[in-house]
Amino acid sequence: MPKLKIEGVGEFEVLKGTRLVTALEDNKGEPLHRCGGHARCTTCRVEFLKGEPEHMTDAEKSKLESQNNLGAFRLSCQCSVEHDMHVKVLMPFSQSGLSDPGPRPEDHITP
Ligand code: FES
Repeated sequence: MPKLKIEGVGEFEVLKGTRLVTALEDNKGEPLHRCGGHARCTTCRVEFLKGEPEHMTDAEKSKLESQNNLGAFRLSCQCSVEHDMHVKVLMPFSQSGLSDPGPRPEDHITP
């Protein structure tokens, strides 16, 4: 199983193919996912310190391009854990001041 290292949190084994936002959520990574994982809010943003996926969904590319953020960060709701990764959650729920992180994203990548 791939290893997911979450900066400042720890290292976890994750079932290959798990949606990254879900893997973060289930391992105390505290990602926000205000749009429910539909590549709209960008609150699930992460920085890859290692193992950034080469593949990018059309939805992620289009959202990042529209905000001039291509290359600045990735959307964890649009990535899956296919190999070892080391990520930093850029907008953790506990630092957000929000009452909830957002609706739980589906297990598969949407939209
Ligand atoms: S863009 Fe909203 S949860 Fe990923």
